[in-house]
Parts: sequence; C-alpha cells; structure tokens
Amino acid sequence: MDSEITLKQEIAWASHLSLQACLLPAPKGISCANYARIPLLKTDDDDSVDVNSNNMDDSWELWNSFRMLCEHHSQLSVALDVLSSLPSPNSRARWFGESVRAAIINTNSFLTNALGYPCLSKRHQKLIAGFFNHSIQSLHGNNNDLDASHKDAFLSEVVVRQNGSVIWNVTFVCNFNDWEMDTVVSFLNLLESKTPVREVEDGSWWHLRRNGRFDICSFYDSLCESSHVAFPWKSIWRTKAPRRIVLSGKPVHSPPKGSTDLASNHNDSNFDGVQRHPLKLYLDYIGYLYQRMDPLPEQERFELGYRDFLQSPLQPLMDNLEAQTYETFEKDAVKYIQYQRAICKALQDRVPDEKVSRITTVLMVVGAGRGPLVRASLQAAEETGRKLKIYAVEKNPNAVVTLHSLVKLEGWEEFVTIVSCDMRHWDATEKADILVSELLGSFGDNELSPECLDGAQRFLKDDGISIPSSYTSFIQPVTASKLYNDVKLHKDVVHFETAYVVKLHNVARLAPTQPVFTFTHPNWSAMKSNQRYKKLQFEIPSDTGSTLVHGFAGYFDATLYKDVHLGIEPSTATPNMFSWFGMNGVSHLPASHPFTTAMDDHIGLGSRISGFHILILKSCNVQEEASSRFGLSNDVLLSVQDIFGQLVTLPLRPW
Ligand SMILES: C[S@@+](CC[C@H](N)C(=O)[O-])C[C@H]1O[C@@H](n2cnc3c(N)ncnc32)[C@H](O)[C@@H]1O
Repeated sequence: MDSEITLKQEIAWASHLSLQACLLPAPKGISCANYARIPLLKTDDDDSVDVNSNNMDDSWELWNSFRMLCEHHSQLSVALDVLSSLPSPNSRARWFGESVRAAIINTNSFLTNALGYPCLSKRHQKLIAGFFNHSIQSLHGNNNDLDASHKDAFLSEVVVRQNGSVIWNVTFVCNFNDWEMDTVVSFLNLLESKTPVREVEDGSWWHLRRNGRFDICSFYDSLCESSHVAFPWKSIWRTKAPRRIVLSGKPVHSPPKGSTDLASNHNDSNFDGVQRHPLKLYLDYIGYLYQRMDPLPEQERFELGYRDFLQSPLQPLMDNLEAQTYETFEKDAVKYIQYQRAICKALQDRVPDEKVSRITTVLMVVGAGRGPLVRASLQAAEETGRKLKIYAVEKNPNAVVTLHSLVKLEGWEEFVTIVSCDMRHWDATEKADILVSELLGSFGDNELSPECLDGAQRFLKDDGISIPSSYTSFIQPVTASKLYNDVKLHKDVVHFETAYVVKLHNVARLAPTQPVFTFTHPNWSAMKSNQRYKKLQFEIPSDTGSTLVHGFAGYFDATLYKDVHLGIEPSTATPNMFSWFGMNGVSHLPASHPFTTAMDDHIGLGSRISGFHILILKSCNVQEEASSRFGLSNDVLLSVQDIFGQLVTLPLRPW
C-alpha cells in the first residue's frame, strides 16, 4: 500500500466531510521529510514516539522542523499531549505563540481527589486555563459554532419557513461526537415538534403565552414536558466544556457510588437509562475548570475583536484623524484621569497655596483634538483651586469645529482660546507655564511627538513644565505565528518591513522587555538631536528551549509628571487603559525570515534616523540595502553597521 496516497485519501475524505482538522501522530524525529510514510507505519501505541522518554527530542523541535518543511502553512496546527509531568513554565510558554489547536490530556495525567474523582495538579490547571484563554478568539471567528454571541437574534432569524413547514435554524457551539448523534437528532425532532408560531398580520403569535409573545421560559417548559427525549439538557446548559481539549486513554478512576463533589454534581436525572460516556468524569472535571474561570473583564471583552489583528499605525500629523477615532480616545477615562492627576501636581508646584488668588497659570494643550485634555485641565484647576488660562492648539480643522462647539456648550469661552494651526508654526502671544500634549504612539515617539514638542517648546517658559515630561519605547522578541502568517498572506517583502499595531494575544514573549529610546521635554540642550541608535542583546531564559522569533513587540511608557505615568509596557502597564487604537495595543514588528535563537545572538537594534525607525532583528550586514533604499548616508549607518539584518521600518512622515 502506498502510504502517501492513502494519507492523501484520508485527508481528502476528511475535507469532504467538512471536518475542521485531522489529527495525525507526531513525527518520529526532526528529520521528518518522509512523514507521510510514518503515520501508516504506526500500528499501535507501542510504536509511537515515546514522549515520556528522557532522550526524546524537544517536542517543540519536532513541531518546528515539520512546520518549516510545510513552509509555515497557515492550516498546519499542533495538538499538544499534556502528560503527567510538565516542562518548565518558560518552555510551556513558548507554545502560546504557536498555532496550538488542541490539548490532549491523557487520563493518566489526572490525580485522584479525596473522594476518588479525577482532578489535575495546580500546574496542569494553570496550563489548561492558558489553553482556554487562547481558544477564545478562535471561538469567535468560526462559522460552525453556535452563534452564542448573537443573543439579540430576531425570531425570524432562527425560525425558517421551508416548503410550508417551519424549522428552527440552530447551530451549536461545538461539533458532536459520534455517540451523541442519536440524541442530537431526537433533540432536533423535538424542536421541530414545537414550532409554535402562528402568523398574524405584521407578526407571529406564540401560543404558549396568553399574550402571544415569545419567551425562553415557556418554550423551555414545553420542551421539558416532552420527557421521552433523552437529550442531555443540563450538560448543554451547564458543562460548557471547551472543544479544544481532547481526552484520551482509558478511565482509571472509579469513585465510590453515591459520593458527590463538584465534578459528580453534573449527574443529571435526564440521563437515567442513557449510557454515559466512559470518560464523562474527566470531561465533567474539565468543564468544571472551564466554568470556574473568571469572566473576561469589560475591557478585555471590548478588545476581543482586536486580538492579533494587524492595523496600520495612525499618522495624526500627516493625516487628519476621523471623528470616530477621537471618540474612541475620549472613552478612555483612565488616560484622562492620569493626565488630570499630573496637571493637578504641576499646578500645585507652579502656584503655592498662598498665591492662588493672584496667579493665573497659562496652560497650552497642543494637539487638543476635540478637547478632552482641555476638560481634564479645567477639572484639575477646579480640584486644586488654581486659576487657569488655556490655549488649545490643534492642526486638524475638522476637530477644531467640534472643539469650538464644546467650548461654547460648556461656557468655557472666558478661559479657553482655540488656535487652529500646527504647533510648530504658531506665533504665540505669550509663554506657557505648562505644555500638555498627547502625541504618543504605541512605540512612544512614532507619531512624531519629539519633533512636534521641540517645535512647540519655543512658547514654553524657561522653567515651564511639559506633560509628558519623558517617554521611553521598549521592545522584546516574540513568537507570534498567527501574525506571521497574516503578514505572509500579502506575499511581498514590504509588509514584512512594516510595523503594525496589534493587540497581542496569541504570542509568546520570549525575554523581558528592554528600553530603546527615551525623549525628555522640554529639551533645552543646544546640541539636541532626535536621532538615536541602540543595540540590544536579549537573553532568552535557558530553560525555554529553542524558540522561533517572528519579530519584536514594541511598547512605551510615559512619565506625565513626577510619579504620574501611563503606558503599555507589560510590567508597568496602566490598568484598563485602551487609548492606543482602542486597545492596550502594541506595535508588532515582524521579520520576513523568522529565526531560531541561540544564546549568543544579538537580536535587536533600533535606529531612529531622518524619517524612519529601523529595527533590525538579527546579526548580518544589509547596510548597503539600507543605504540605497532609504537614502541614508553611510555616516548615519556607521554606528550600527555590524549588526544590520532584517529591516523593519516605522515611517515618521512628514518630517
Ligand atoms: C493622539 S491625538 C490626541 C487628541 C486629544 N488630545 C485627545 O486626547 O483626544 C493627537 C492630536 O494632535 C494633533 N496634532 C498632531 N500634530 C500636531 C501639530 N504639529 N500641531 C497641532 N496639532 C497636532 C492631531 O491632529 C490630533 O488631534
């Protein structure tokens, strides 16, 4: 038998059945070019890779070599065997940047609780919780799932009329197992036996309620009355076990009859007379872990749609932002609370308590948008009892229209002067005590904050305060196979050399972040320059094992004033802040050729030169290319010449 042909036939058949995935045995070693012949040689479990053996290859290496042979194919995923002993946390963490489709938990990996029921160790529970977290996104984009998020569906959308009969159009959160099909069919029959609507003019009449209105309660009651159907109601409503966890092995737990615990609570009288699946206890336990997870906080729910989604960074200097973008900024209460705190402190430092009635502080909001920082400044003045005169400078004429309306609506005309122009060219009639701005991008300086503020500091008093007073960008190497595949879809180099803004979720952060560039304001130095070079070396913890670096994640942290900061650098990130593109976003800087890491690799360099950020991912020399492509002189490149590799650019236009 030609095993390759047979494998292809099997896969074609699975595809014909619209199966989402085929699960194949792991390759036997990292030289797996002949993999197609291996699965069919595998006759029983004894012949499989001994994953418990100490001299086993790192399973990541197996996966990586196979994935490389398949050219990082986007439809290739991995199912992880979760065994009783687990690798180190760093080694496990690598997998969260990979395309892990399922976790297979063998019954032997379960411990036994005091009542004889299966349970998992804390470390296993943590790992499983990580898998739950990382499958949430897939649940969203899948057509085959029950549209559980579609809670506001109209009856007309779920009740379909076909050839004179009425049927319920239901879809389920997960695919069913073979042994469940009979009950599913009887369940669907039951649903169809209860098609309770009578058409009346301009609506449907629900005869289970006297008022004719549809409600879940009456429908549920009527279905429950039909006790002949053995559909596992409570399992459907209560177990909610995630579909990405696969159980394998034979049952090895047999709790004494009549004992109860959290897992056994799932016993259901509706099951009486129905044979339970032999692994039900294990499935119930996994379902229990799943249900025990904390619900997603509101901000996380808001950000779900942005997870691992590539966006182009905004260029608010070059482009005029849209109203919707300002609206998103303005919803971020946390950001403006931080600004207000900083402004309060600055006002108090500027004007001592005994002089509050005599001194009016001049504050300029540069890049005022539609006015939220003007509001925060006025609230700070009220909070501290300081007198304030505000200039709101904005170059986007559309935002200025809204700003005028706001000032009029709020009756701020007495305190606020609107200036419609670019801050770099404004001739201010007086100097400011405090300069407030929010010109920060996800990478700190990438929206030209340093250049704009350098232009604006002409009208700041010599002892004036800038809020923010400084900001620093950070990077760290990441594995992010989904993002890599998304960029690869474009089939060109340009997209690999572009920085994106992403709410990173399916990533493995491989080493702690390191600071890249810092800018401080005001900067009165005569020799000031915003060009920067930085060479970094990241040490990936040795117990991680091999990894694949798909690029860098970039973040920023800003000191607004004294101890008041805001930012998205993971270790100090401001909680619940989502301003940066409607999410706690970061820049993802991809590499066209992902590379595995070795301990002595220099894998980072940042250069901020005339209009570009260039971030270089790995040691090698592409200086000539950089010089010809970006028109940069060799002098500029000199200081970084030995460590050029992949170029990733973040344009800083217009200069
Ligand atoms: C990130 S938005 C912040 C807007 C507002 N402060 C807020 O929090 O909603 C930056 C604003 O600065 C403006 N801006 C950027 N560069 C500017 C410049 N050189 N002069 C004046 N306004 C500028 C943009 O048009 C944009 O409205």
